[in-house]
Amino acid sequence: MPDYYDTETQLNEYLVFHYGEDAQVLGWDFGPVKALGFHKRLVEWIDTDRLRSGSRGLDLGCAVGRITFELSRFCESVVGIDASKSFITRADLIKTSGTISFRLTREGSLGTPSEVQLPPNLDRNRVTFLQGDATNPPASLGEFDVVILANLLDRLPQPTKMLEKLPEITRPGAQVIICSPFTWWDDFTDPDQRLGGFLHDGKEVTSMDTITELLSDEFFPPVIGDEPFLIRQHERKFFMSVAQVGVWTRK
Ligand SMILES: C[S@@+](CC[C@H](N)C(=O)[O-])C[C@H]1O[C@@H](n2cnc3c(N)ncnc32)[C@H](O)[C@@H]1O
Repeated sequence: MPDYYDTETQLNEYLVFHYGEDAQVLGWDFGPVKALGFHKRLVEWIDTDRLRSGSRGLDLGCAVGRITFELSRFCESVVGIDASKSFITRADLIKTSGTISFRLTREGSLGTPSEVQLPPNLDRNRVTFLQGDATNPPASLGEFDVVILANLLDRLPQPTKMLEKLPEITRPGAQVIICSPFTWWDDFTDPDQRLGGFLHDGKEVTSMDTITELLSDEFFPPVIGDEPFLIRQHERKFFMSVAQVGVWTRK
């Protein structure tokens, strides 16, 4: 579904998801508070002691860019790539202005225009955004020390092609973080291209098993865990997911 992420509704939901303050995302004193702040939590999986000075980060499927900016805390330069023109246009605007504008939808067309500032510990000068296909990044980008694929694989027509690209774009010792709730959906990935969620010869195949197998020649076995996240649709409706996280180190 090529244009799924190029609508005003998706843009607004992702701006709130990435940049909304906790009380803006979840305006109730009950609910899944541990699912807030997903993008900040995800980069904490990086073992910063293993980063060299001058480290380079890459955020594939960056949407409106929060992980890309968060990586600027640890990497001297960071590239965020996304297929959506409207997401990348907005990410670029945030880089230039440091300001994020969105609408906090109440109900239907009711809502409040809101503005927040990018946290000052995130270095906008270290960040570059590109619109393009994550499975085929420009060769001129070279190799990276940290690569993040957050909730991307189950939105690709050929996720295996993305995994095959990883050795080419990582240097030895690089850390690759892949996370996803693995919500396989026919509109994005044909059933025969999926990494998991089916029986093969009577045995359950999970996406994490397949990724680990496909990366095993070039990467050490992953550290695995879980990270919840919350997307606010409106004041009274939310989508909560639990991404499975794997961190691989390049041999
Ligand atoms: C589920 S969203 C995840 C966004 C972000 N990583 C996060 O976790 O908040 C998937 C993102 O992948 C992007 N995307 C889908 N296919 C892509 C491709 N082939 N190349 C680059 N980005 C792609 C979409 O535009 C969307 O921004």
